[in-house]
Amino acid sequence: MSADQLEATLLEREDSLAILRNALADVELGSGRIALVAGEAGIGKTSLVRQFADEQADRVRVLWAACEALFTPRPLGPVHDIAHEVGGPLLELLSGGADRAMLLFALLDELRSALSLVVFEDVHWADEATLDAIAYLGRRLDTASCLLVVTYRDDELGPQHPVRLVVGELPSRLTVRVSLDPLSEEGVAELARKADRSPRGLHAATGEAATRSS
Ligand SMILES: Nc1ncnc2c1ncn2[C@@H]1O[C@H](COP(=O)(O)OP(=O)(O)O)[C@@H](O)[C@H]1O
Ligand SMILES: [Mg+2]
Repeated sequence: MSADQLEATLLEREDSLAILRNALADVELGSGRIALVAGEAGIGKTSLVRQFADEQADRVRVLWAACEALFTPRPLGPVHDIAHEVGGPLLELLSGGADRAMLLFALLDELRSALSLVVFEDVHWADEATLDAIAYLGRRLDTASCLLVVTYRDDELGPQHPVRLVVGELPSRLTVRVSLDPLSEEGVAELARKADRSPRGLHAATGEAATRSS
């Protein structure tokens, strides 16, 4: 089995996928939702959301935005990512140097225009303006046909970390949580079996964990 095929095989995430599917079904009934996907590095946040996005891509517009581990995080980096994907007024405002309030208003307007799955990845690396954007969207998402999925590493965040404060203030009636646990022993054994115990396959399956523990 190739590393690509291994990556395509998500184990033990049916419950998590069901939470995301239900949240999207609620969006289709008329009110936006926010899904908080939390867990340690390498636990499978990106894989889960990617699988969900892939399975929904034929009926939902997927807008993928990410934060990076930069020494000077990009202000509103994820909003820039989305503006470049959708173009239109949002990109025009951004290129014209519009202020943040105008940008967020235009983003919300964009999210009202089509059923959307918006992903903000790795917001433990977000700048403060991006966290403000999440708070802004969160309070207004009931008027948008949008599922906003926010992923973050929660194991390194203290109780007063800005990410915790922002997600703690999101309206609970719009918010669902997906907390990812490590795979069970059976899951790990299954991964090893799928990797055919070939050194290359096992390396592909465990590479991240090995890197983290070295
Ligand atoms: N449920 C799963 N079943 C099998 N492999 C998984 C699962 N979740 C993650 N992986 C594998 O673990 C590695 C790390 O996952 P990733 O989604 O990048 O983690 P994170 O985004 O939380 O850092 C990837 O190689 C991925 O293919
Ligand atoms: Mg990731």
